[in-house]
Amino acid sequence: MYVCICNAITDRQIGHAIDQGCGSVSDVFRRVGEKPNCGKCVPDLCRMVRSARRRAMPPLADAAD
Ligand code: FES
Repeated sequence: MYVCICNAITDRQIGHAIDQGCGSVSDVFRRVGEKPNCGKCVPDLCRMVRSARRRAMPPLADAAD
């Protein structure tokens, strides 16, 4: 599914960029070799990056050890 219509960037490309270590929207754009145009996709990209970061964080119980 296209997330960024301006640059034809799909959710799979974004997921792959995040898996490769992209931790911000600008990292994702850089990784796919594009720049934001209209910016309408930025909130969705932020959500995807934030959600991936949350999944990558250790559970709180483990963090206290
Ligand atoms: S939809 Fe991504 S920059 Fe326009």
